[in-house]
Order: sequence, then C-alpha cells, then structure tokens
Amino acid sequence: MNIDKIDKFLKMKSSLNVSGLEKEAGIKGRALSIALSDKKDLSEKNWQKLLPILNNYGFGNLPNKAKIISIVNNKGGVGKTTTTAVLGEAMARRGLKVLMVDMDSQGNLSQIFEVSTENGQVADSMLDIDLLLNQVEVNENLYIVPSDLKLQKIESELLTAISNQHRLSAALNITLIENYDFVLIDCPPSLGLLTQNAINASHSCLVTVQPESSAVVGLDTIFKVISDIGKYSGRNVAVEGILFTMVEKNMVHDGFKKFVRDTYANVKVFKTEIKKNVDVSKAQAMKEQLFNFKSKSVVAIAYDELIDEILN
Ligand SMILES: Nc1ncnc2c1ncn2[C@@H]1O[C@H](COP(=O)(O)OP(=O)(O)OP(=O)(O)O)[C@@H](O)[C@H]1O
Ligand SMILES: [Mg+2]
Repeated sequence: MNIDKIDKFLKMKSSLNVSGLEKEAGIKGRALSIALSDKKDLSEKNWQKLLPILNNYGFGNLPNKAKIISIVNNKGGVGKTTTTAVLGEAMARRGLKVLMVDMDSQGNLSQIFEVSTENGQVADSMLDIDLLLNQVEVNENLYIVPSDLKLQKIESELLTAISNQHRLSAALNITLIENYDFVLIDCPPSLGLLTQNAINASHSCLVTVQPESSAVVGLDTIFKVISDIGKYSGRNVAVEGILFTMVEKNMVHDGFKKFVRDTYANVKVFKTEIKKNVDVSKAQAMKEQLFNFKSKSVVAIAYDELIDEILN
C-alpha cells in the first residue's frame, strides 16, 4: 500500500507537512490528509502527481527491504556500541523498525538495553541454522538480538565449521528481516571471524573513528577487509561512511579530522559529528536509553541528524 510508505516517510521527515505537499503536487480537496487519516491508498492520478515531489525529498531512498549496516572498527572504545544503540533509538523514534545485533562477546549493547540472553542469543543461531534469532523488543520499533561471553566460546568452534564466515548472514536470512527497515550490527574490536560474519551479512559498513592517532592508523586495513570481503563473496559491500565520534574542540582532533578527510578523499565522511559528552556515560551507567534520559542531548540530536545523511 503506498499510503503506509508515505505515512512512514512523513514521520521520518518531520520538516515536511501534508498541506505543503498537497499544494506542491497540485492535489486538491485535502486528498492526501484524508488518505492518511483513513489509511486508504491515494488514487492513481494523485499518486502520480505526488510521487515526483516525494522523490525530491528522498522518498525513493527509503529501503524496501531491511538495509543491513555493520558498525565497524578493530580499535576498541571508539563508539561502535554507542553508535549502534543511539542510532537505533533515533531511527525507531522516527518510525523506522530497527533490529540491533550484538556481535560482541563483551555484550555491551545487550547490557545497555538490559537484555537477558536466557532465551537465546546470536551464538545459538550461528551454531544452529534452524534456530531463529532471538529478537527482543526494547522499545517501540526497536529490537535487539543479544550476546554474551558464549559468543567468544563458539568462535573457536566455528573455526572448522562449514561456511563459517556466512553463519550470521544465513541466520538473518531465515529471520523475517523484511519486517525491519534497518539492521544495525555492533561489531567487536577486531577484524576476525565475527566481524567478517557481520560484514558478509551487510550491505554496508559504517566506520566509527575517534580523531586521535591510534584510531586513524588502522583505517587502511579496515577498508581493505571490507573490499576483500566484497570481492571474495562476489558482491559489493559499500562503505556507508566514516563517522567521527567523541569529538572534542581542540587542535589535535581538528588535525586528525582533516588528515582523514584528505587521505580518504574517495570515502564519504559524514558531516554529522558526534561530540564527546557526559550524557552518554551517564545514561549508560543508569541503563537508560539516551533519548529517554535526555532527548535534547547534543549526542542524541546528532545521531538523529545522521539518519538524514544515511537516507539521502
Ligand atoms: N559521544 C560520546 N561522548 C562521551 N562518551 C562516549 C561517547 N560515545 C561513547 N562514549 C563512551 O566511550 C566508551 C566507549 O564507547 P563504546 O562502548 O561505544 O565504544 P566501542 O567502540 O563499542 O568499544 P569496544 O571496542 O570495546 O566495543 C564508553 O564508555 C561510552 O560510554
Ligand atoms: Mg562495543
């Protein structure tokens, strides 16, 4: 039904208003607002008038199937888990249905959302393809498949297993991921088998980078791994972009940001930057979702703005 998709799009693009769109498209008699409140499709004539206008605002970029994005960096502590959690929250608040996958045996993402692994976790479905991923609802539109140390234990078991780089992809394929708009995979701080499983399952990778020397050094390797996984699996895995995290206003950070932009001129670097702000650690310490803790936090607002860059 086209009206459901329009409804979702308008929730995401809060700056658009219905009467403005009706005017721009030349639709008379409040047909769009009536169709939205009655949950009935627009007539073919009105739909044809409206579609090009909606496309000008990025309607065509709405994923039809879940878009799967891995949040990657083999450097530890550079905001991968925070990005997965807060971007997930922000997307869900815009009406997008999101599945977060905890691919890290540290289980930080699962801990932030206080999700128990008792009824199943990523490791179970990776070992047994017939086991559906345990999708736990943590907020409206927001789901997580949890993990704990068991994931580390099965990594060695997987070393000799058949199709050991494609286990997560297979698990996602039998799960009804078409129900979701986005799947966000929180990777561990390594480029080993678990991260390779995540990238193999993904359409793209978002690389979080704290603009400091040690975090910038490994970027070549990360891009090579992403490109090699694409090559060897016969498909393209895109780099969604580099996201600067925990950014501080000082010359060191400014210098490293410039270095990254200059060195990786052919890679998208998101305009949105995530500032270092104490709201993040406070919310995580209190086991609260950042938007519930402080919806006007600069970090919450920045992750919300990042959605527009991902969708456009
Ligand atoms: N924007 C931010 N402002 C302040 N603190 C932040 C921010 N983003 C993350 N942090 C804090 O920095 C620490 C590391 O962040 P996070 O756990 O997201 O990194 P990670 O890359 O997932 O780490 P790991 O590689 O260990 O999985 C956490 O304590 C988190 O609370
Ligand atoms: Mg993490």
